[in-house]
Amino acid sequence: MNTSSQFLFLSLISIWFISLTAFAATTIHPDEKKALEVIAKSLGKKDWNFDIDPCSNKPNWVTPTIPNVVENNVICNCSVAGDNFCHVVEINLKGQNLQGTLPSELNRLRYLQVIDLARNNLKGPIPKEWGSLTNIYKFALLGNQLTGSIPVEIANLSALQILELFNNQFSGNLPPGLGHLTQIQILRLSSNKFTGELPATFAKLTTLQEFRIEDNQFSGKIPNFIQNWTSINKLMIQGSGLSGPIPSGISLLTNLTDLRISDLNGSEYSHLPQLNNMKSLNRLILRNCNINGTLPENLRTITTLKHLDLGFNNLSGTIPRTYADMNGLKYIFLTGNLLTGPVPSWRKNVSVDLSYNNFSISQGSQICKDENVNLFSPSWGRNDTGTVSCLSLKCPKPANSLYINCGGKQAIVDGKSYDGDSDLPGPARFHANPTGNWAYSTTGVFVESNQLGDTYSPKNITKLTMVDAELYTNARASPTSLTYYGFCLANGSYIVNLHFAEIMIPDDQTYGSLGRRVFDIYLQGKPVQKDFNIAKEAGGVGKKVIKQFKDIIVSSNTLEIRLYWAGKGTQSLPNKSIYGPLISAISVESSDSQPGSISADSSPDSITAGAVVGILVAATILILSF
Ligand SMILES: *[C@@H]1O[C@H](CO)[C@@H](O)[C@H](O)[C@H]1NC(C)=O
Ligand SMILES: *[C@@H]1O[C@H](CO)[C@@H](O)[C@H](O)[C@H]1NC(C)=O
Ligand SMILES: *[C@@H]1O[C@H](CO)[C@@H](O)[C@H](O)[C@H]1NC(C)=O
Ligand SMILES: *[C@@H]1O[C@H](CO)[C@@H](O)[C@H](O)[C@H]1NC(C)=O
Ligand SMILES: *[C@@H]1O[C@H](CO)[C@@H](O)[C@H](O)[C@H]1NC(C)=O
Ligand SMILES: *[C@@H]1O[C@H](CO)[C@@H](O)[C@H](O)[C@H]1NC(C)=O
Ligand SMILES: *[C@@H]1O[C@H](CO)[C@@H](O)[C@H](O)[C@H]1NC(C)=O
Ligand SMILES: *[C@@H]1O[C@H](CO)[C@@H](O)[C@H](O)[C@H]1NC(C)=O
Ligand SMILES: *[C@@H]1O[C@H](CO)[C@@H](O)[C@H](O)[C@H]1NC(C)=O
Ligand SMILES: *[C@@H]1O[C@H](CO)[C@@H](O)[C@H](O)[C@H]1NC(C)=O
Ligand SMILES: *[C@@H]1O[C@H](CO)[C@@H](O)[C@H](O)[C@H]1NC(C)=O
Ligand SMILES: *[C@@H]1O[C@H](CO)[C@@H](O)[C@H](O)[C@H]1NC(C)=O
Repeated sequence: MNTSSQFLFLSLISIWFISLTAFAATTIHPDEKKALEVIAKSLGKKDWNFDIDPCSNKPNWVTPTIPNVVENNVICNCSVAGDNFCHVVEINLKGQNLQGTLPSELNRLRYLQVIDLARNNLKGPIPKEWGSLTNIYKFALLGNQLTGSIPVEIANLSALQILELFNNQFSGNLPPGLGHLTQIQILRLSSNKFTGELPATFAKLTTLQEFRIEDNQFSGKIPNFIQNWTSINKLMIQGSGLSGPIPSGISLLTNLTDLRISDLNGSEYSHLPQLNNMKSLNRLILRNCNINGTLPENLRTITTLKHLDLGFNNLSGTIPRTYADMNGLKYIFLTGNLLTGPVPSWRKNVSVDLSYNNFSISQGSQICKDENVNLFSPSWGRNDTGTVSCLSLKCPKPANSLYINCGGKQAIVDGKSYDGDSDLPGPARFHANPTGNWAYSTTGVFVESNQLGDTYSPKNITKLTMVDAELYTNARASPTSLTYYGFCLANGSYIVNLHFAEIMIPDDQTYGSLGRRVFDIYLQGKPVQKDFNIAKEAGGVGKKVIKQFKDIIVSSNTLEIRLYWAGKGTQSLPNKSIYGPLISAISVESSDSQPGSISADSSPDSITAGAVVGILVAATILILSF
């Protein structure tokens, strides 16, 4: 060879070598490719194209994201191991309705940092082999049908910052080892079947920013050690199974922006904690926590507060008049307490629910004209549900029956005429039917997202096939509490039929079908069914179930049907804000042998007078000037 041909040869060699190294540097490690083949099979992921390098950033390894809905990305790092191969560092397969199981072979992706399989329809347990994925910092499996307990090996993921397991069917106790995750920031475990106490090791989770355990079956008290979580912004303990009291040390969590504790188990009384050092607090929900005592004057110093809910407690005394001056407040729910005295006059841009208290309101007073203030029924603590403030009852003739097509139009079914009920709801809404013989009251806002709006009225998302579908195509729903109040019924015994159908959750194999709606039913103030799940009792979604309650006694011409969300069920499936009570229709009929015989004892006039006198006796006339 002469020099020039030698040069050419060397040049060719070097070009070949350069292209080889360049090629090698963008190629997945062969073992990881094999692992991905096994992983695809297990997850039921059918559209990965193994003819294309998984680290090529090409379809279908990387596809454009639909924010918050679908993600489909395998992300590699070609320098992470220094071995001239690319390695998978992230797998994001969100919202794809995958129907397989979690593959133990995931542990062959040794450099994996993020695994996000949110909102699919995956079944089975978390493989314990995943405990060797020690580079993982985000681990998201929310919105699947996963079962079993959290493997103790997950505590080996020492780099973990985000653990999202909510909206699944996980069970068992939480492994104490989770308390050794010294970098954990977000821990979301809501809507599972977890049991046992929160492990004492959790006292060390001082890096926590968000902790959610709603809708579980935990036991024991809310631990005092939560006061160690001084970085926390969001703390949600609703319908968790934990009991009170609320630890007073919670006042040390001064970085809180969103605090929601509700529906504590047990009957121990709580004090309202000191809150005035929480200078960033946006939302405060301490509902149904057995809190007694009075409302604190200094809440006014939390100028960031937008949403205050201290409903369904045992708060007494008066509302501090400064509450009406809190300009940032958008919603204030003091529903279901023992509050007394005068009612401040509120700005028009705040929704105020004061229903079920013991206020002094006169019929016809100015406050009764405020559309944004709900004062429905002043009597929560007392046994005289016959008195309704602000309402002038006229009952020309006591009725023996009541039919309402909740949220729908007037309808005739089985020869019975169901009243229409298409008034638009609101966060604090009381509305009496024009006929005057019934009313509804609704309380609350959907906190996860307001995408449905404050006037959300459910409609069926799929075709309904029952013969009386007109009763079920529309319904009335509420984020917290929904009451129907029948007036002017003849005293006596009744059969109450409550008609339900789940019309907001799809019947298919999508993650949306994993939504669970759960609420409680009260009649005449007494619980008649806890943890009612429409779809479960109807044998599926889009099917009707009529809950019949017999021997319901009407003794002061009034019937109260109350539905209440006690923090149970999913809150974000199929969409955020699909939860809480929902009812399709109501039919109530006297079960006395001679319907009307009781009313025959008294003339229609005396009933009207009786009802009005009831209201007047309950009310102390107070005109307020703030
Ligand atoms: C790949 O990994 C290396 C080593 O860990 C890191 O320095 C680099 O930032 C990573 N590259 C990307 C794009 O994340
Ligand atoms: C997890 O860590 C424990 C020690 O804490 C070790 O015995 C076990 O083998 C580890 N498990 C895995 C799957 O890495
Ligand atoms: C957490 O709180 C407990 C008391 O509940 C205390 O004994 C412990 O030292 C605290 N731990 C940390 C890591 O701050
Ligand atoms: C509270 O939040 C602020 C601002 O986000 C942050 O600077 C501070 O470190 C936090 N405090 C604690 C105790 O985490
Ligand atoms: C909550 O309390 C009720 C009784 O009040 C009890 O039946 C139920 O088991 C308790 N739940 C848990 C998770 O402890
Ligand atoms: C709350 O109730 C408990 C138990 O009945 C009682 O001991 C306590 O004094 C009450 N607190 C207030 C402020 O009323
Ligand atoms: C406390 O409130 C609950 C409902 O939230 C109620 O059942 C109970 O009777 C109240 N206790 C008192 C002493 O009023
Ligand atoms: C309500 O209106 C007042 C003025 O009347 C204003 O200062 C305040 O910011 C408004 N609040 C909200 C929550 O919009
Ligand atoms: C309701 O308020 C009246 C005074 O306005 C009071 O006499 C009565 O005891 C209160 N009822 C309850 C249950 O607090
Ligand atoms: C409430 O009133 C009904 C009917 O008058 C009566 O049967 C019941 O015992 C009362 N309940 C209480 C707790 O006083
Ligand atoms: C709701 O149900 C009715 C009655 O079956 C049907 O006509 C209508 O198409 C359904 N709506 C949707 C969105 O499927
Ligand atoms: C029903 O009972 C209430 C309270 O016992 C009484 O005031 C009212 O007059 C009765 N109404 C009829 C129609 O009997």
